[in-house]
Amino acid sequence: MVKKYLPAQILLHWLVLGFVALQYLLHEPISESFEKRLEGAEGATSGLVALHIFGGTLILVLMMVRLPLRLSNELPAYPKENAPLQKLLSQIVHWSFYGLLFLLPLTGAVAWFRL
Ligand code: HEM
Ligand code: HEM
Repeated sequence: MVKKYLPAQILLHWLVLGFVALQYLLHEPISESFEKRLEGAEGATSGLVALHIFGGTLILVLMMVRLPLRLSNELPAYPKENAPLQKLLSQIVHWSFYGLLFLLPLTGAVAWFRL
């Protein structure tokens, strides 16, 4: 039987993409607030700052669901006509994305909450 990504994996892929896009669109308020705090002032917190923290935390939670699904399911076979280097590169890129999507919210939280 042809292996496929599970519908849940596909849904998670697009949900994460949507929230990552939101994080980029909504980074301005938290960047400004963080800069003020670094300068020793009281950084303003607003709904948009909270939304960045909430969105980032949600991405982390979604990735915690996504990783076990990825590890427990076999992937669709790579097209035979692809060069081995293409397969290697796609694996590197996919795993880098997994790594980044865990590291970004964690480092954001470390910076914000001064953990
Ligand atoms: C924030 C941007 C994105 C991230 C972080 C991301 C991340 C990933 C990751 C980690 C995988 C590997 C899936 C797995 O092994 O579980 C994947 C696969 C895939 N992504 Fe994305 N992706 C992004 C944007 C996109 C966009 C814009 C498209 C299409 C226009 C796309 C299409 C695909 C497809 C078709 C696959 C399956 C590829 C394969 O099996 O070789 N992704 N993506
Ligand atoms: C995958 C999740 C996340 C993405 C994609 C993301 C994205 C971004 C982006 C694009 C910036 C602007 C950086 C700049 O202007 O130089 C930013 C800044 C920031 N984010 Fe996030 N973020 C995520 C999660 C989080 C979380 C969970 C927190 C806190 C709990 C957080 C806290 C911060 C802080 C404090 C800054 C200001 C840092 C600075 O300007 O140097 N982020 N984020």
